[in-house]
Amino acid sequence: MVKIAFNSALAQKALGKEMTVAAEKDPELASAPVIHEGSTGRCLLTLLGIAFILSGLIVGGACLYRYFTPKRLYHGTMQYNDGPHEVFGENQPYYLPRIEEEVEISDNMAVISVPPPHFRPGDPAYILHDFKRKLTAYLDLTLRTCFVIHLNTSVVLPPQDLIDLFLQLMSGSYRSYLVHEDLVVTERIDDVKPLGYYIRRLCDGKETYRMQRRSSLSGGGIQKRSADNECFTIQHFANKFVTETKICKL
Ligand SMILES: *[C@@H]1O[C@H](CO)[C@@H](O)[C@H](O)[C@H]1NC(C)=O
Repeated sequence: MVKIAFNSALAQKALGKEMTVAAEKDPELASAPVIHEGSTGRCLLTLLGIAFILSGLIVGGACLYRYFTPKRLYHGTMQYNDGPHEVFGENQPYYLPRIEEEVEISDNMAVISVPPPHFRPGDPAYILHDFKRKLTAYLDLTLRTCFVIHLNTSVVLPPQDLIDLFLQLMSGSYRSYLVHEDLVVTERIDDVKPLGYYIRRLCDGKETYRMQRRSSLSGGGIQKRSADNECFTIQHFANKFVTETKICKL
């Protein structure tokens, strides 16, 4: 008890002395520790504020980036008649085949996702149109193989027209017709890098072949017989009509 009392008395005495000394030296010094604590708190608040603003900037930036990057997803369905010259009239079948597509369109390219067709032969595929390099690549998802050909501008609408078409498709049903396209594999491509960033990204690590239209092939008729056993089809659209692309390996 004595010891405690003594100690506390001593402490009080020392404390009082110190305080008076401090007060004598500089009246502001006594409150200096309080100021210091306050500045630490303010500093933390400032840091928190900065972190808050930064995270806001990052989130806002990401949103703006998404908003302003000219890359959008569209979805469309087309019903179609076999052949371009059929009349939409009395002989209309009750059920028309239909084809659905998801497409991502930007200034330079369009990627079309083709699901497997219902009630019809045909492979699911990704079809990429590179408008700058004027190339089209078909990635057949059944074969996991890529097929590349020059972009045919009379079959594939330019990006803005494609967007308009899909906006039209999204606002209602659309009836169209089927066009057949006959392509033949000509050679294997070992290096996909010269085909550009987009096609490289799509076809890297997959077998990739170059194609030509059969009609542009000299002696196409002769090769037709052997080609028929390794053919497959992809139905898709990048215009106001549906294209059935038949791809044959030689
Ligand atoms: C593009 O497609 C159309 C219609 O299928 C065809 O007549 C034309 O020959 C094709 N053009 C090229 C350069 O392949």
